Amino acid sequence: MTARAVNPGARVLVVGGGYSGERFARAAAARGAQVWLTRRQDNPDAAADRTDQALHWLRFDSAAEAIPALPEQLSHVLITLPPDTNGTDAALEHLLEPLRHQPLRWLGYLSTTGVYGDSQGAWVDEHSPTQPTLPRSQARLQCEQRWLGSGLPVQSFRLPAIYGPGRCPFEQLRSGQARLVHKPGQVFCRIHVDDIVGALLHATDQPEGRQPSLINVCDDAPCPSSETLGYAAHLLGCKLPEVRKFEAIAPQMSPMAMSFWADNRRVSNRLLCRELGYRLRYPSYREGFAASLREEQERSAQQP
Ligand SMILES: NC(=O)c1ccc[n+]([C@@H]2O[C@H](COP(=O)([O-])OP(=O)(O)OC[C@H]3O[C@@H](n4cnc5c(N)ncnc54)[C@H](OP(=O)(O)O)[C@@H]3O)[C@@H](O)[C@H]2O)c1
Repeated sequence: MTARAVNPGARVLVVGGGYSGERFARAAAARGAQVWLTRRQDNPDAAADRTDQALHWLRFDSAAEAIPALPEQLSHVLITLPPDTNGTDAALEHLLEPLRHQPLRWLGYLSTTGVYGDSQGAWVDEHSPTQPTLPRSQARLQCEQRWLGSGLPVQSFRLPAIYGPGRCPFEQLRSGQARLVHKPGQVFCRIHVDDIVGALLHATDQPEGRQPSLINVCDDAPCPSSETLGYAAHLLGCKLPEVRKFEAIAPQMSPMAMSFWADNRRVSNRLLCRELGYRLRYPSYREGFAASLREEQERSAQQP
């Protein structure tokens, strides 16, 4: 164990207890840490968690100016907030200064691989130039740089599309909303949420000298979305929708949907998996989708 490891003495704050943040919080609590998480609103789902002695929910909503008093003696912080539509990072604005007064050993920042921009399908790694094409990725790069330059012990984790239970294409396939789009040469990278959590904890376990400030967290299998949709349909045993050419349906796409097709790159996980020795739980969407479907089915079987 290293000085940065999340262990029973750790006091962890997750700013943004959303999809990845809550999963990380639970894993940190399972290691014996005291954990606080923020959300913008009280949410009914969180009520059950309040019975969990290791998780403490705080309200942090920059829009409502609900700024929490931070717990004392924090050792670890994870920031999961994206920049807002104006490019502002609410955590930078409201929490950076209070965090300077904490005895932090580690601050993890969840960034995106969008900062690399469009490499036209070529591989990129942490040394590749950052040339973000999308305004939200440009804002992200600025926020990431501010965190890295803050003087706090920051590591930034660059993430591709996050998937996992509740974030796979199963529901879209069942409801007939899924679109099978063909764009020659286009690939997407992705990561299962539990590999984000695993990579974060692995990073905190690394000894001095093995704590790079930037780490890509991707699986081994960049591929077209038609391939992943095909596999999801195979797991469900359902039919695929008719294949559509990208040029034909692009005019009907929302600007947000279009933006996902703007960049084409393969993101290398060599630093994480080879140099830092992290072993992916889900090296590709195949294992990851199957596990996610199992977890979704278990959850729905438990519901009254
Ligand atoms: N989803 C993807 O495929 C993807 C891909 C690459 C990178 N990322 C980035 O990775 C990070 C984690 O993703 P995720 O999908 O786990 O995120 P998420 O579920 O959307 O969680 C984000 C958290 O930030 C909180 N938040 C957002 N704006 C806030 C504000 N103005 N004030 C206070 N709290 C605010 C949300 O609060 P509430 O819980 O109250 O909503 C939520 O807890 C994000 O920065 C995301 O942009 C995501």
